[in-house]
Amino acid sequence: MCGIIGYVGTGNTADILMRSLKLLEYRGYDSSGVAFCSGKSMEVFKCPDRVSVLEDLVKGHGENAKSGIGHTRWATHGSVSFKNSHPHQAGKVTLVHNGIIENYKELIQTYHIENRLLSTGDSEVAAVLLDEHYKGDPYAAISETVELLQGTYALVMMFSDRPDEIYAIRKVSPIVVSEQENGKLLASDLNALSTVCREYFVLPEKTILKMSLSELSLKDLSGKDIKPEYEQMDFGFEDLDKKGHPFYMEKEIAEEGTALRRCLASYAADGLPSFEDEGLDHGFFCRHKHIVICACGTSYHAGLLSKRIFEKYAGISTEVYLSSEFIYERPLMEEDSVLVVISQSGETIDTLEALRCGRKEGKESLAIVNVKGSSIAREADHVLYMEAGPEIAVASTKAYTCQLAILYLLAFAFAKETKQDGEDIAKLIEEMRKAPDLIEAVYEERETYHDLAKRLKDQKSVFMIGRSLDYYILMEAALKMKEISYIHCEAYASGELKHGPIALIEKDTPVIACLSQKDLLAKESSNIKEVRARGAKVFCFIKESIRKDFVQKVEVFALKDLPDDLMVFSAIPVFQLLAYYLAIEKGVSVDKPRNLAKVVTVE
Ligand code: AGP
Repeated sequence: MCGIIGYVGTGNTADILMRSLKLLEYRGYDSSGVAFCSGKSMEVFKCPDRVSVLEDLVKGHGENAKSGIGHTRWATHGSVSFKNSHPHQAGKVTLVHNGIIENYKELIQTYHIENRLLSTGDSEVAAVLLDEHYKGDPYAAISETVELLQGTYALVMMFSDRPDEIYAIRKVSPIVVSEQENGKLLASDLNALSTVCREYFVLPEKTILKMSLSELSLKDLSGKDIKPEYEQMDFGFEDLDKKGHPFYMEKEIAEEGTALRRCLASYAADGLPSFEDEGLDHGFFCRHKHIVICACGTSYHAGLLSKRIFEKYAGISTEVYLSSEFIYERPLMEEDSVLVVISQSGETIDTLEALRCGRKEGKESLAIVNVKGSSIAREADHVLYMEAGPEIAVASTKAYTCQLAILYLLAFAFAKETKQDGEDIAKLIEEMRKAPDLIEAVYEERETYHDLAKRLKDQKSVFMIGRSLDYYILMEAALKMKEISYIHCEAYASGELKHGPIALIEKDTPVIACLSQKDLLAKESSNIKEVRARGAKVFCFIKESIRKDFVQKVEVFALKDLPDDLMVFSAIPVFQLLAYYLAIEKGVSVDKPRNLAKVVTVE
């Protein structure tokens, strides 16, 4: 949930750290801080605020420093306050941390260090313990300290008597490292490295990294040298530019069509699904008779919707779980199941833990991920990249569409490989190819949804009702509205209203109905009548080609036509834009909503 950075080199340390922190801020933005090492003096600047505020504090400092570390925080343990901001200092140690030290309270008691603590969080405990164990040998101090820690950590530290040396070690929380002409840079993810490098390596877990002006080395906890495994960056800094859009979220909706085209070109180039290059051969599809999907948030919604596609087209039973539930529920998985985990960031700890649980039970695993080199991508048996390009806005948009495209193609591949492609798979994929143009056409009509947002912006809550695929579409639509406009919104299966939720409907309650499934039009129409009879104000989003069959006098918005089972692709951009404009009209932070972060690396 936090972003950490470390630099040593001959560049302008202050500029490099501040620029990189801005690129990491989407990971957490409650507070921020940096420490510069100039000779034997350590200057620390921090604040319970965004990087832009920190920038003012840092002005005029750090340019001559040759090393420094930085941090953006998403509060886990300890409130948002100056004393809980990083970097933390303890004696000779200055440290930043991403993760959760679960046994920090016991460590405080065991080592009687309560009097050394200024903060109420867990990270400062690591700094104090490191200082307690530091007798001049960083490796010994780090090894002895991390042996005491339970939980997850990416620790980056400096020792005041070892100027211009930066040490790091990780367990679960990510650290990537790059070298460039004027120095060495480590960060929580590749976005922060994208300005300076084309190749990087992932710091292996429980390996001590040392970066100095003349050295970059890795040692395991027994002191053995480890060779870094370099990988190529698949995007550059230019991909992180907003390209004239006011917010990343708008940019990423505008890019959705292009992202989907790239995804379809990767996995269905000649009109049929093909995953051979990713190692999914005929044997893969034949040996699995069940699918278990684990994911969180938007990725979970993509998984939920795909269940119907796997079962309808491939006849393969599919269970979908919230990762955070799966790791504790531990549901029974059939012997010949494949575990599919979906994660845009590839770092969501709940989903990473779900993947590890499945692998412990000997299940073959497949990850659908956007960020190359991420923890989930590295630990799964197979990985399919979404090819969506960097997604910076906390609210996921283009990644959702690409996740779904891959899940659909995977279902079609199961059907084709197991000779169950009764439905004309090639025809459906041909229809899918129309989706990017339709998504772009929806974006061009965005002012329609801006106008609606102006009328809904003062609502305290909004109902969303739909059946079957429309219900799953609206679950994602509701999450978008909640997380960026802060308007309470829930999606209900329309048929379920009469079993309770309809009690909440009163005069002028706003109800958004989604009608994209031709064969459900009659049923859905009666549900709309039911809520209208109780005073609801209904906004009906209906598939263009069946609009003429809907005769009720409510406000209607047309959804562009695709076959019923593909309608999510033309419907979801509409609801993404509606949520976006609600946030704009409410004047709240679009790309960095309160209390949230783009990468959730705490359970
Ligand atoms: C989506 O808009 C949210 N930001 C959030 O629900 C997100 O989808 C969830 O945290 C999962 O993230 P992941 O796909 O990176 O694993």
